[in-house]
Amino acid sequence: MTAFNQTGIIGSFKGFSRRDFVKYLFAGSALSLSALKKLNASIYQSITSLNQKYIEDESPDGVYWEALSKHFLFKDGLIMMNNGTVGPMPKPVFNSLMRYFRVQVTNPFDVYNFIPRKKGEVRAKLAQFINASPDEVVITRNTTEGMNFVANGLDMKEGDEVLLSTMEHPGGTHPWRLKEKRYGITIKMVPIGLPPKGVDEIVSAFQKAISPRTKIISISHTVYISGLIAPLKELSQIAHEKGVLVLADSAHGIGMLNLDMKELGIDFFATSPYKWLGAPTGVGLLYVRKEVQDKLWPTIASSGWDTSANARKFETLGQRADALTLALGEALDFQNAIGKERIERRIKTLAGYLKRELGKIPGIRLHTSQDPYISGGLTAFSVEGVEPKKIVNYMREKYNIVVRTIGNKEKGTYGVRVSTHIYVFLKHVDMFLEGMRHLVRRKK
Ligand SMILES: Cc1ncc(COP(=O)(O)O)c(C=O)c1O
Repeated sequence: MTAFNQTGIIGSFKGFSRRDFVKYLFAGSALSLSALKKLNASIYQSITSLNQKYIEDESPDGVYWEALSKHFLFKDGLIMMNNGTVGPMPKPVFNSLMRYFRVQVTNPFDVYNFIPRKKGEVRAKLAQFINASPDEVVITRNTTEGMNFVANGLDMKEGDEVLLSTMEHPGGTHPWRLKEKRYGITIKMVPIGLPPKGVDEIVSAFQKAISPRTKIISISHTVYISGLIAPLKELSQIAHEKGVLVLADSAHGIGMLNLDMKELGIDFFATSPYKWLGAPTGVGLLYVRKEVQDKLWPTIASSGWDTSANARKFETLGQRADALTLALGEALDFQNAIGKERIERRIKTLAGYLKRELGKIPGIRLHTSQDPYISGGLTAFSVEGVEPKKIVNYMREKYNIVVRTIGNKEKGTYGVRVSTHIYVFLKHVDMFLEGMRHLVRRKK
């Protein structure tokens, strides 16, 4: 208890009192479980009644979103406009995380019965959330692990090619660099514009790069440098026509976009639910399409790797931090209560407004497309004569807005990246724009 007081953690959570916290950390398990159930139920009840009252209200600000934003754990006054690395957690998810840790600690026997059953429910929920089958869902630890599972697990020999874009994250590049060094495969880099003009530019660049040796396209779906949303559906179509597989690094995708694996048609899809979905760090998702599962070797082997007839053969990792997985289930419930489509629409509305207004400020160069089909909640830009680091520091000091620098000076991708998740308001975007206008005026 003292430790919590010392760090100030309890005191800093809005609507989550010290008493609530202590209640389920130290009370008997039955009492704490029911207290938590009640705590979460009241939050969902409030979302349901908001949905009923304001379902027609699609304005980016207003009562609906204001009320929803209160269900996130933030320090007072912090305006979180960076969902990279890790994003914030809604209260019910935090409540569940604590609850399930407690279950595991107080009754370790539950790992034989209660916890596997609950994990099965989460797998089914995850599958439904991305329009896939539970048999296609691998519960990983993060995107990097998912990308490594695919790169390691495919049989490829010297000279076989993988196509990467020039905008990949290290977690999407290094698994292939390792394979290149170990097996002599060839990595071909396909250039992508900053921003690209449209879908055709990207698709035709990959189409041209495919050769008879190409085995797989490994591409960032949600490009961390530029905010591009790669056209996976179109890329899968041209790749599959030539017998080439497609792996998507969608670290930011789940929780930001209304994902549909069937619609995208890809073979492998790795994502990190702790950026935009509000899940705890340490639990991730890899989708492996049923039809390609026999092409992929498991990287980790324990009981089941050779007998499971579904994607569970890729996750025989032994004991896991199950509370993380079960809290992921709660994160899915939270977003489902709001609605995936509505979440994507709001995120894109806010980003669209930000990009439009940034575009009016002289000297600003947008690195992100204005087209909502190939962009999402990440917006990147640069300004001649204003250091990105200076922008980041100024926004934090003046408005308590958190954004980040991104990219690489030598490659011409260096800039600032802004995330616009559902708890950001137009007034926050306006504050950011006001700050940018000031910085641009001052440089003269
Ligand atoms: C596009 C992309 N890929 C991969 C990663 C790595 O994600 P993780 O650390 O969750 O594995 C990130 C992290 O921000 C990313 O932005």
